[in-house]
Amino acid sequence: MEVILAEHAGFCFGVTKAVDKVYEQIKSGKGNVYTYGPIIHNETVVKDLEEKGVKVIETFEELDSVTDGTIIIRSHGVTKQVYEALEQKGLEIIDATCPFVKRIHNIVAKESEKGKTIVVIGSSVHPEVEGIVSYANGPVYVLESPDEARVFTVDSGTELCLVAQTTFNYNKFKETIEIFEQKGYNVNIVNTICSATEERQTEAEKIAESVDAMIVIGGMHSSNTRKLYEICSKKCANTYFIQTLEDLHLDLPSEVKLVGITAGASTPKKIIEEVQNYVRRNF
Ligand code: F3S
Repeated sequence: MEVILAEHAGFCFGVTKAVDKVYEQIKSGKGNVYTYGPIIHNETVVKDLEEKGVKVIETFEELDSVTDGTIIIRSHGVTKQVYEALEQKGLEIIDATCPFVKRIHNIVAKESEKGKTIVVIGSSVHPEVEGIVSYANGPVYVLESPDEARVFTVDSGTELCLVAQTTFNYNKFKETIEIFEQKGYNVNIVNTICSATEERQTEAEKIAESVDAMIVIGGMHSSNTRKLYEICSKKCANTYFIQTLEDLHLDLPSEVKLVGITAGASTPKKIIEEVQNYVRRNF
């Protein structure tokens, strides 16, 4: 089988940095190591870290049981309240929040300080968005889709600042901007979708358009992988979402000659290579 592997598949620089920091900390042997939430949405990596003694703090309440050690903040950041609680506890904090996410925190803090109403385009239950929202000092709304943008209303004099979750679907972001412009709102739009996401999505869409089948690899809870799947499915009817090679039970129609592969930002290279080799050799 002929395979096209996306150049921008797998770990982005923010995830690489965060994961490296956890391994460095383990190596240093300096006491307990915690991550606030799983460091990435990849069960294989998280399991490996757990075996090496890293504990995952899942909830704010769980922090009560942590009295000493180092806590690593993952690439999509935490809320302002969690950050302050970590500081108060006197834990050593290694902040691996991606600079692209930090930039959004700063924009939101600054613009809402100026009195603007913040609109975040993204998933309201995603930790990154929860973090972004927490930096607003005034009114803040989360819109999950262009449909929600269509029914969104504020008083005509309201000054708005619109930002997006770093991994938001770029096409949907553009659609949302058009909706806001048509409404005639006074809105300052900042495209905060990170370049790694934009490149990954654009490339995946292009590949999906030209292949007979498309495989998207990534964690079930990874929002950027789900978006890749959504984008590719629109262009290629034979699109498959898998976490690892074990999930791959392809029953490809005989006319399939070319398969495309892409992967979310938290998918290790090893898994991508395994899938690629398998597809090349077995079909
Ligand atoms: Fe950062 Fe974008 Fe990756 S925000 S963590 S470079 S997906």
